Amino acid sequence: MKMTRRGFVGTIGLGSAAGLLSSAGLTNRNANAASSYEGDPAYDGGIMQLNQNESARGPGPKTMEAIRSHVTKRLGRGYAPDHVNELQATLAEGYGISTDNVILATGSGPLLRGAARAFCSENKPLVTAGPTYTTAEQTARQMGVEIRSVVVDSSDMGINLDGMAEAAVGAGLVYFCNPNNPTGTVHSPEAVESFIRRVQRESPNTKMLIDEAYINYAADEVMQTALPLALEFENVFITRSFSKAHGMAGLRVGYALGQEQTLDAVSGAWGMGDVNMLSAIAAITAFKDKEHIDWERQENAEIRAFVVAAFNDMGYEVANSHTNHIFVNLGKPAKEFRDACLENKILVGRDFPPFEQTHCRISMGSREEMQKAVEVFRKVLA
Ligand SMILES: Cc1ncc(COP(=O)(O)O)c(C=O)c1O
Repeated sequence: MKMTRRGFVGTIGLGSAAGLLSSAGLTNRNANAASSYEGDPAYDGGIMQLNQNESARGPGPKTMEAIRSHVTKRLGRGYAPDHVNELQATLAEGYGISTDNVILATGSGPLLRGAARAFCSENKPLVTAGPTYTTAEQTARQMGVEIRSVVVDSSDMGINLDGMAEAAVGAGLVYFCNPNNPTGTVHSPEAVESFIRRVQRESPNTKMLIDEAYINYAADEVMQTALPLALEFENVFITRSFSKAHGMAGLRVGYALGQEQTLDAVSGAWGMGDVNMLSAIAAITAFKDKEHIDWERQENAEIRAFVVAAFNDMGYEVANSHTNHIFVNLGKPAKEFRDACLENKILVGRDFPPFEQTHCRISMGSREEMQKAVEVFRKVLA
């Protein structure tokens, strides 16, 4: 079934519809808006993938065109690939910083692994949240390093910053995901700044990684980048990803921003991979295409509002999300819900301890997907 804008608005009720209608023309502005569900290669084996926080819409049209136009014989020359230095320079210019303050990686995964390798050791634990994105934690576990996991605040699912600051004393690295995966929650610039200054004061040798992979989905009013703090403090650095709002998970591009010596320590501790020519030109184009990111943020926000409203209507609470995923309190094991959804060809998020007995993470797909998914959620939760 093709989901029209009118049909979508009709299903979410008048209050939210007013918000949607204020952005008229949305569906036709971008070729990717009208992705079809059936027969689309994005849906492996006919299973709708709402489990990985990837993009159902993929890269924007300008980015797609940039990739196509760079598929030439020039790809035969690549040991010093075109556009990779240009990507670093584009990011630096975009943020008003030096290229020394930017490192590239094949996705942000290598940066998170490098950070744990660089700054954690036998006597330097990792501090992280429970639940949060786990690459840093998995690396610390492989290294046999102590992990101090601070459970999120169950009243609003926000990261417990006081608890994290207390745990940070003597730690090697604090991993702070803002917005957080899986809860979708964000912390204001004031809260982030006071947390960073407190850790810096109480534990001056502890490094702090602020993972901003989902920042493009959050409105400026609710959060802002911690980049000014990364430029101020050697101990603070930021990671970003092209895998989320830029829709480029399959192209594997991430980067870190911070002081040169801090970034050197990260890239010196673990391989960052080689960003390739096509990924680089795609990332340059996607980074500059602010109009598409604005569109993507709005599209995601509308779809998320529709899904949240459906869960609220069924009587379930959803943490206040500023990302492309939601964390729903189903009051029953995530596995039960996951298995029931899978029987209906929908894959939802894995277990996220310590909330696996109550909450499930659901990634937002396209309008059509979520229309269909909500029907399934209603059926399996009935
Ligand atoms: C918070 C967070 N950081 C980093 C990543 C890794 O992204 P990538 O390696 O694709 O850049 C993810 C992926 O889901 C994530 O959720």
